[in-house]
Amino acid sequence: MATNTLLLLPGDGIGPEIMAEVKEIIALLNGRGLTDFATDEGLVGGSAYDAHGAAISEADMAKALSADAVLFGAVGGPKWDGVPYDVRPEAGLLRLRKDLGLFANLRPAICYPALADASSLKREVVEGLDILIVRELTGGVYFGEPKEIVTLENGQKRAVDTQLYTTSEIERIARVAFDLARARGRKVASAEKRNVMKSGVLWNQVVTKIGKEEYADVALEHVLADNCAMQLVRWPKQYDVIVCDNLFGDILSDVAAMLTGSLGMLPSASLGAPDAATGKRKALYEPVHGSAPDIAGKGIANPIAMIASFAMALRYSFGLIDLSDKLDAAIAAVLGKGLRTRDIGKDGDTLVSTKEMGAAIREEFAALLG
Ligand code: NAD
Ligand code: IPM
Ligand code: MN
Repeated sequence: MATNTLLLLPGDGIGPEIMAEVKEIIALLNGRGLTDFATDEGLVGGSAYDAHGAAISEADMAKALSADAVLFGAVGGPKWDGVPYDVRPEAGLLRLRKDLGLFANLRPAICYPALADASSLKREVVEGLDILIVRELTGGVYFGEPKEIVTLENGQKRAVDTQLYTTSEIERIARVAFDLARARGRKVASAEKRNVMKSGVLWNQVVTKIGKEEYADVALEHVLADNCAMQLVRWPKQYDVIVCDNLFGDILSDVAAMLTGSLGMLPSASLGAPDAATGKRKALYEPVHGSAPDIAGKGIANPIAMIASFAMALRYSFGLIDLSDKLDAAIAAVLGKGLRTRDIGKDGDTLVSTKEMGAAIREEFAALLG
C-alpha cells in the first residue's frame, strides 16, 4: 500500500480539540492496516502568528503543497483581533485556498434522522434534508483587486473590495456542480444577484451555457441569492445542489448549517483541478464552523464536522468509499443512540464532551469495520 501523506493544521480555539479526535481515527485505521497515512503537523492562524509572525509559515505552506491532503481545524479568535490585516489568522486559510488552487468547496448539509428536532426549524422542514452547496472558493470579492482602504483628500476614507469573475472561473465551478448533481438528484440551483451585479449577469449566462451544452440531463434553475437564503429557511428540501460564488456560498452555507441542527455538524471539502499527469487533486478538508472562542478550552465542542470532513477526505482524496461510508454511518449511529454535545442537545439528551463523542464514534466505527 502506498503511503499517503496528510498534513494536519489544527489551528486555534476548538481546532486542536476536534483535530485530536480525527488523530485517534487515523491511528485506528492505520492500526488495523486499513490505511497507511503518514501524518505531519503544522501551525496556522493565530498559533502560527504567535510562533512565526505570519498566519502560516513558508515551511508549512510547502508541506501543504506537497501533502496528498490537508486537514484543517479552525482559525481566529479575539486574542488576534488587533494584529495587522495581512497576518490575521484568517489570512492563513485564504492563502492555503489560493496557493493550492482549491476553487471548488463542497459543503453538504445533511439532517441526520436523530437530529430532526435539534434544528431551530420544524421537523417536517428539515427531516431527510440532503443538499450540497458548491461554493466557488478562489475568486470573487475575497480575492479581487483592488482591495484597499484609501484616505481621500478631504480626510474621508474609502474602502474598496472588488467582486471579479472570469468565464473560465465560472465554467469550472459550474462543471463541478453539474457533475456532482449527476450522481445525486440531477438538479442544480445557481444563486447570484444578476439584478444588481455584473458578475451575477455573467455567472448566470455561463452557468446557463454549460448546463445547456454539456448537462442537458440535469435540471437547472436560477435563483437570486437573497431569495435562496429565504428559500433555504422556508423549504430547503426543494434543493439538491446549489452553486454560487465565494461570498454567497459563505453565507448560504452558514444558513444551511443551522438546518442540520448546528454549525458543529457541517463538514467541507475544498478541491483543486485534477493534475494533468496524475489526475490527483490538491485538497483541504475543514469544518464549516470557526474557532468558537466562546467554548474553546472547555472540552465541549462538537467534533462531528471535523470527523465528517475527514470522511470526505477518505472519499475524495483517497477513494476509500467504504471507509468513508462507514465513518458517516458511525456518526449517524451515535446520534441515533442519543449522544449529544451541547450544541445539538436538548433536555433529556445524554450530554457528552468532545472526547466522549469522539470515543463513541470510534467505537461504533471499529464495530462497523468488523
Ligand atoms: P464560529 O463558527 O467560530 O462560532 C459561531 C457559534 O457556533 C459559536 O456560538 C460557537 O460556539 C458555535 N460553534 C461553532 N462550531 C462549533 C462546534 N464544533 N461545536 C459547538 N459549537 C460550535 O464563528 P464566529 O464566532 O463568527 O467566529 C469565531 C472566529 O472564527 C473568528 O475569528 C472567525 O474569523 C473565525 N472563523 C474561522 C473559520 C475557519 O477557520 N474556517 C470559519 C468561520 C469563522
Ligand atoms: C469559512 C470561513 C472563512 C470564509 C473565513 C474564516 C476566512 O467563514 O470557511 O466559511 O469566509 O471563507
Ligand atoms: Mn464562513
